[in-house]
Amino acid sequence: MTSKRTLLSAMALAVALTAGMTATLDSTASAGTTLKASAAEKGRYFGAAVATGKLSDSQYVGILNREFNSVVAENEMKWDATEPQQGRFSYTGGDRLVSHARANGMSVRGHALLWHAQQPGWAQSLSGSALRNAAINHVTQVASHFRGQIHSWDVVNEAFADGGGGGRRDSNLQRTGNDWIEAAFRAARAADPGAKLCYNDYNTDGVNAKSTGVYNMVRDFKARGVPIDCVGFQSHLGTSLPGDYQANLQRFADLGVDVQITELDVMKGANQANIYAAVTRSCLAVSRCNGITVWGVRDSDSWRGTDDALLFDRSGNKKPAYTAVLNALNEGGNPPSTPPPGLPVDTSAWYLLVNRNSGKALDVYNLATNDGARISQWTRNGGANQQWQFVDSGGGYYRLKSRHSGKVLDVYNFSTSDAAAIVQWSDGNGTNQQFRLAESAGGYVRVINRNSGKAVEVQGASTSDGANVVQYTDWGGNNQQWQLIRIG
Ligand code: XIL
Repeated sequence: MTSKRTLLSAMALAVALTAGMTATLDSTASAGTTLKASAAEKGRYFGAAVATGKLSDSQYVGILNREFNSVVAENEMKWDATEPQQGRFSYTGGDRLVSHARANGMSVRGHALLWHAQQPGWAQSLSGSALRNAAINHVTQVASHFRGQIHSWDVVNEAFADGGGGGRRDSNLQRTGNDWIEAAFRAARAADPGAKLCYNDYNTDGVNAKSTGVYNMVRDFKARGVPIDCVGFQSHLGTSLPGDYQANLQRFADLGVDVQITELDVMKGANQANIYAAVTRSCLAVSRCNGITVWGVRDSDSWRGTDDALLFDRSGNKKPAYTAVLNALNEGGNPPSTPPPGLPVDTSAWYLLVNRNSGKALDVYNLATNDGARISQWTRNGGANQQWQFVDSGGGYYRLKSRHSGKVLDVYNFSTSDAAAIVQWSDGNGTNQQFRLAESAGGYVRVINRNSGKAVEVQGASTSDGANVVQYTDWGGNNQQWQLIRIG
C-alpha cells in the first residue's frame, strides 16, 4: 500500500517538475498507518530507545519493528557499558542493537559518548589530563567501532547546569577544562566522518537560560569551525509544554545545525496526547528537525516508573497519545527537510548526495580531474570531490558540477543502456549531462538523465567504498535514491 501511494505521489511530483513548476510535496496525498511510515512521508524518522534485553520479548519487538525506523540504545552505548575497565571495550549490547537495526531497515542514534553520569568507576576516579586523555580515547574508540553505522551521535550529553546561570554543569569532565566538549566533537568527527554529531540535553525545551547557554556554545562552535551538526532536545516533559518550544527549535536550526527530539516522554494525564501532538507538529514545522525518538516503547518499558509516559500501554496497546502523534504526522503542511522545501534546488549551494541504500556519498573516484574519470560512492568525508553544485539547464534539468574538478556528471558517450557508466566530463551542457530530480518518499530523490531517462544508481546496490555509479532503468530502488544534504 505504502509503496504504491508513494510511487503515485512521486510520479505526480516528477510530472510537476518536468513541467517546470516550483513544486512542493503534496503532503496530503498519503496518510501512513504507522509512526515510521507517516514520519517518512514527511522526511523524518520516528525512533525508540531500546533495551537490548527486551529484543527477546516478542510483543516488544513486534511493536518496535512495526512502528519505528530508528533506534537508540537506552544504556548499552554509554561509557560504563562500552568501557567497563579502562582500555577494555565491550560492544555486545551495542552491536546487537545495530544488527537488529540493519536487519530491519532502521537507522541508529548513538547515545552517548561522554556524559557526567553512568561513567565506569575507573573514570569517576580520574581527573585532569589522565581523565581528559581517557575521555578522548573513549570517544575515538567507540565512534571508530561503530563507524559508518550511526546516523547521529550524542557526542556530549547534559553538560549544562540547570537554573538561571546558563553555564556549564560542574563535573569531572568539566574540570579538565572548558574545551573538553569541542575536543570530544573533533575526536568524534575524525573517528566517524559520516555520522552527524549532536549535543544533547534536557530542560532545554523552551527558550530559557540553560537552552540559551547551549545556543551560545553552538553559535561559537559554528563560528570557529568546531564540527557540530545537530542538537538533541531530550524533551522529558511534564504536564505542560513551553509555549516557545517550536521557536526554540527554530532558533537552533537557524544557526545551521539540525535539531532532533531525542528522548521524548510525557507525564500521564489530560494533556499527554495534546503535548505529544504539539511536539510532533513543532518538529514538522522546523525544516531542519530530522526526527523524533521516544524514550521507550510501552509504559512498562519507561524509566519514568508510574508516569505512563509513552505511546503504548503496558499491554502493548496504542494509547490516545499514539493516535495524536500519528494524526499530527499525517496532517498537511510541511515537506521534508532534505531536499529543502520547494524544488528546484538552490543553484548557489553545494550538496552531498548520500545514497539511501549504502549511506555513502557520490564521489569523484580517487580525486581525479580528467574527463572520463569514473564516479563512485565513498564514505562521507567532507572532501571537495563529494560536493556538487546544481547548474540550471532550464526545463527542470541541471548539470551536477564537482567542486573538486569543475567537471559535471555525464552518462558516458550518450549511452541509453542499463549499467552504462556515469563519469565526469567537461561541461558541454549535453543532454547526457542534464538530470532532473524525481521525489521518492522520506526526502530522497532519484536523479534522472535527460538523454536516457534512466536513474543514477549505485551498481548492484553495493555498500562498499569505491562501488560504481551507473545509470539504470528508474525503478525506485533504495540504491537509486539520494539524499541532498546542503553543506554550504
Ligand atoms: C536513563 C535510562 O533510561 C535508564 O535505564 C538508566 O538507568 C538511566 O538513564 N537522559 C539521558 C538518558 O540522556 O541516557 C537517560 O536514560 C534518561 C535521561
